[in-house]
Parts: sequence; C-alpha cells; structure tokens
Amino acid sequence: MVHPAVSSLRPQLWLCFSLQTCAYKHESCACFRDTGEQCGVVARLEAVVYLDGEYLPRSQAKVSVLDRGFLFGDGVYEVIPVFGGRPLRLREHLDRLQRSMDRVSLHNPLTRSQWQRIFDALLDKNPGDDRAIYLQVTRGVAPIRDLSVGAGTRPTVFVMVNEVRQADYAGLQAGISAIKVEDFRWKACDIKSISLIANVMIRLRANQSEVVDAILVRDGLVTEATASNVFLVNRGIISTPTKSEHLLAGITRDLVIELARANGLTVEERDIDENELETADEIWLTSSTREIAPVVRLDDRVVGHGVAGEYWKKMVTIYSHYKRELGNA
Ligand SMILES: Cc1ncc(COP(=O)(O)O)c(C=O)c1O
Repeated sequence: MVHPAVSSLRPQLWLCFSLQTCAYKHESCACFRDTGEQCGVVARLEAVVYLDGEYLPRSQAKVSVLDRGFLFGDGVYEVIPVFGGRPLRLREHLDRLQRSMDRVSLHNPLTRSQWQRIFDALLDKNPGDDRAIYLQVTRGVAPIRDLSVGAGTRPTVFVMVNEVRQADYAGLQAGISAIKVEDFRWKACDIKSISLIANVMIRLRANQSEVVDAILVRDGLVTEATASNVFLVNRGIISTPTKSEHLLAGITRDLVIELARANGLTVEERDIDENELETADEIWLTSSTREIAPVVRLDDRVVGHGVAGEYWKKMVTIYSHYKRELGNA
C-alpha cells in the first residue's frame, strides 16, 4: 500500500510499501516527516544523475571505457555544498571550475546558466536537507587509447547530488587525529583534477595509522590536507598557507578568511613552517563537506589542550550563522 502522502512527493524520494509493517522507522522518511506518523517499510528509490544531456537513474548512467577520464584521469571536478536548498558560493565554484579547465586546456561545454539549470533540475529531482552537487568534466571518449588529444573529442559531463550529513558541531568538538606526511604530489595541486591517486595513497597511509587525515608538508612548509585546507591558530592569530600551485585554493578556505576578518579576527595568509604545527594552539581542516574540523592530535602530540579550541568555537558559530542566513535568504 502506498501512503497517501507519498503521492504528492517526487517519485524518486521514498516509497512506502506498507503502513502495517514498519520495520525501519527511518527518520528521513518523507512520510514520517509529512504526516508525523511512522511509515511503513521504506525503500530509497534511486538517485537521478545528469550525464551528457540526459537525466537518468544512477544505475543507468554509463560511460565508455575509452573515456579519457577513465583511462587517464583526464578531467576536472567540483563539489558544491547546498544548505537550505541553496548552493554555497556557486559563482566561486564555477569560477574555480573554469580556472581548472583553462589550466588543462579543456573547453567548458556549458555556459553558467546551463550549469545552473542542471543543478536546479537535479536538486529538484533529488530532494533532501544538506546536499552536495558533484560535477565532473572529462576530455571525453577517444577512438583509441592515446595520450594525444584527437580533434573533435567532446567533453563528458556528469553531475550528481549526494546527501551530506548535517554538521554535528557537538560531535566535531571532540576533534580528529592526523599524521604529518611529506607532500610528494605534483606542482599543479591548484587544479581540481580527478586524478587523485596521490591523495588516495596518503589517505590510505593515514587510515592505516588509524587517523582520519594527513597534513602535508613540502620543503618544510605546510601545504594542505588530502581533501581540505589547513589553518593554524597561535596566540589569537589565525594563519593559513598562501595560495600557490602546491595546494587547492578551497572555497571554504576563502569563506573562513572572509568571515573571520569581517568578525574582527586576525587572519594571515603566509608560508607556514612545519615546526609551527608543533606549537600551534589550534589546527583546523576546512572543506565544503567537512566545514571546519579541529585537529586535536597530530602524530604523537596533543594539539593545544587536546580538544576543540576557543577560536574554533568562535569560527564555527560565525560559519553556522552564515549558513543559516543563506538558507533563509
Ligand atoms: C586537495 C584539496 N584541498 C582543499 C580542498 C577544500 O576545498 P573546498 O573548500 O572548496 O571544498 C579540497 C576539497 O575537496 C581538496 O580536495
């Protein structure tokens, strides 16, 4: 039996099969939210994705084995967080996408308004609370496997929407542990490239050490983490490495700097010596999906007092206020 409330919902969200046999009491179930009743057995219907002009159930979206993204990692991507139904810093994400594409001489096949239309359609087809738009553009399908780019290769465009767990600031307060690792990646880390094997290798090393992430150091200077930027706080001054080809200029990084300064905090963008990690009062990792995570243990050393610091608390309050305003705008 289909719950009456379901008929008004978009078909790809949730489907109630039976009101009598509620086994899962899934708190995200649309029936539960819409009616206040516990639903029947619920099954999540498939996500809808965009692939080269078509909207498809995710399992039906297929890419050729000759796609250069699959063969060479020849492509770029973006992750755009969505809060209260609104993409955060959309213009900045599309600017960075364009910069990445320019850096790898890849033609952007869509205008900004075409990108926006795809995002709007996908957000509508994949309703939810906090979400993230993932987009990827590869150089497309080649007739044979060859590094040289043939004339007439058309980029492959793929977009999906992923659910993101709402930031649990109380949970985040416990902090995360990390290790310090030599940054052996290439000198083009400012490109948001889909070739992430080095980052995967480093993350594996971190996970094998039973920590969440690694802070990377190149020639004695802090660069970033495997999928986030690094901030340090020392004696009330917040610092983060200067933008360069050694790190991805995070949209969250820029937003944190902007919000911190607007709220009277001092932020420096400068070279950070790896030794400063040992004396920092606080270390944070920032990214679109992680937001601002305090690192409370680095290698064998406790950072600050071993819990989220006072400046992290200030920053997270400012950041979550900004997110709320975005949702209400
Ligand atoms: C290597 C790297 N640095 C930094 C970031 C943070 O970027 P953003 O704040 O735009 O999510 C990411 C995000 O994926 C990343 O992969």
